[in-house]
Amino acid sequence: MQIHLFDNAEQVGKAAATLLAAQVIRKPDSVLGLATGSTPIPTYQELISLCKNGIVDFSNVTSFNLDEYCNLPVTHECSYHSFMKEQLFNHININPDNTHVPDGNAANQQEESARYDHAINRAGGIDVQILGIGRNGHIGFNEPADTFVYGCHIVNLTQSTIEANRRFFDNESDVPRQAISLGIGSIMNARQVLLLATGEDKADAIRKALREDINPQVQASILRTHSDVIILLDKAAAGLL
Ligand code: PGA
Repeated sequence: MQIHLFDNAEQVGKAAATLLAAQVIRKPDSVLGLATGSTPIPTYQELISLCKNGIVDFSNVTSFNLDEYCNLPVTHECSYHSFMKEQLFNHININPDNTHVPDGNAANQQEESARYDHAINRAGGIDVQILGIGRNGHIGFNEPADTFVYGCHIVNLTQSTIEANRRFFDNESDVPRQAISLGIGSIMNARQVLLLATGEDKADAIRKALREDINPQVQASILRTHSDVIILLDKAAAGLL
């Protein structure tokens, strides 16, 4: 496990984008695991700039996102489908047919979960998975629990996640209560994981994930058993280490 410290969130984004760009330059048909939330936005801005400047070519890249809300139309401004288009896909030369976000509105949620895991396997598996971390230590929407769940599955969001994500919605009652998320097994199968955390409100989750026993109440702690994980932190998120 490597831990790199930076002064601020912008530098974390530039470092993560540099690692992702290197991956795509080395392997133009890379499979990238992508994340939503505030944390990866500086990374995506830097990737957009690298693409516009002709440094990185996404035309052969495939992407799989970690998660999506259930029962929210994909066209809703807060859906992760919309987020990815707005923050990244609309600004780079990735083929939209090669971008994948799980369907949170599938009639058969179990079938959709299995389909999504199979699609990742058929694409050859994820080369690099980018992750943020929740204030409760979640990765993807794998919330604190008594166990780690292996595959893609439906999750009941915890109150702390609902409150954290409320800032994107008009009212707390509008925040979906369920989501579909890659499981911990699917995340751990990625060949390399980049975990990003910025800001003081992530410091306790980072401390628990990196310093306390590996346990499913802090789902990110399992990453310490991955053979190739790079953790990029700003000073504020590293403040309790
Ligand atoms: P954030 O979310 O980047 O918006 O803080 C991260 C997460 O919940 O995984």
